[in-house]
Amino acid sequence: MIAPMDSAAPAILVRDLHKSYGDVEAVRGIDFEVARGEVFGLLGPNGAGKTTTVEVLEGYRDRSSGIVSVLGHDPAGRPRALRDRVGIVLQSSGVYRHVTVHEIVTHWAGFYPTPRNVDEVIDLAGLHESVDVRSRKLSGGQARRLDFALALIGDPELIFLDEPTTGFDPAARRAAWETIRALADLGKTVLLTTHYLDEAQALCDRVAIVKDGRVLAVGAPAALGVGASSRYRVSWRDEAGEAQTRETDDPTALLHQLTSAALARGVGLDDLSVTRPSLEDVYLELTAEAAAAEHESAT
Ligand SMILES: Nc1ncnc2c1ncn2[C@@H]1O[C@H](COP(=O)(O)OP(=O)(O)OP(=O)(O)O)[C@@H](O)[C@H]1O
Ligand SMILES: [Mg+2]
Repeated sequence: MIAPMDSAAPAILVRDLHKSYGDVEAVRGIDFEVARGEVFGLLGPNGAGKTTTVEVLEGYRDRSSGIVSVLGHDPAGRPRALRDRVGIVLQSSGVYRHVTVHEIVTHWAGFYPTPRNVDEVIDLAGLHESVDVRSRKLSGGQARRLDFALALIGDPELIFLDEPTTGFDPAARRAAWETIRALADLGKTVLLTTHYLDEAQALCDRVAIVKDGRVLAVGAPAALGVGASSRYRVSWRDEAGEAQTRETDDPTALLHQLTSAALARGVGLDDLSVTRPSLEDVYLELTAEAAAAEHESAT
């Protein structure tokens, strides 16, 4: 075998992961795999178990049971072999308050064997105007950009991003997306969590939708939409200006029917559109179904 075992293995493997905090069963049997070079998203409502899962993978949290492998290593205890190869943006942070952005990033660079260039990373994170600002004076979004810079400074192969763009203004989010895409282009593996489904749709090769510590669905964002439903949504505004929507498996026939009828009456169909269910539609449908099923089994 030419390739070392290590590089043939998936970047992340999770099998039947369980984690309880006392009586709270936060993770109840999660399975997924992330291939090398993949951008993988964990989606799910508040309290679903996303951060818990990510923290187990980062080695910050012990698991109750299950198999977990990160770049071929068990992350428990944060082995040195992993620390140098993994970058992390925690859901909340803000450690060094009295030093400047440049000083913090330089300091962190010293922890890694082959760090990236400090100024380059500061630029990449969109912090060039704040290099000399003390971290406690950064706005929420700017502080988040600093977290991002710290995750990249070690030039990691694998990056964990727990809600990386929460609090970003729209332009900063787009800039962060570009950075994440650039990482993917370099062949890095990214595991991110987000509540922004457009973000997941724009960035992720595959996503897992998690609720109550279990995976409800895994797949490419587009395939999840199509797989969960073959429906198309046809919308338009009628002559009275009322918004109308029909769902159909056969948009060709429905459009023919609607447009013929409109033409026969000599009117147009304002705002006519045909769309597939978005990731957000699928997400809301799946998580609502799971809640309904739980309610049923509880009564
Ligand atoms: N340190 C802790 N001690 C006790 N319970 C915890 C702890 N951390 C998380 N939990 C509980 O575990 C469950 C999962 O929490 P987790 O933070 O993993 O969710 P999440 O999916 O990341 O949610 P969010 O979208 O709000 O970030 C929740 O019920 C939470 O209250
Ligand atoms: Mg979380």
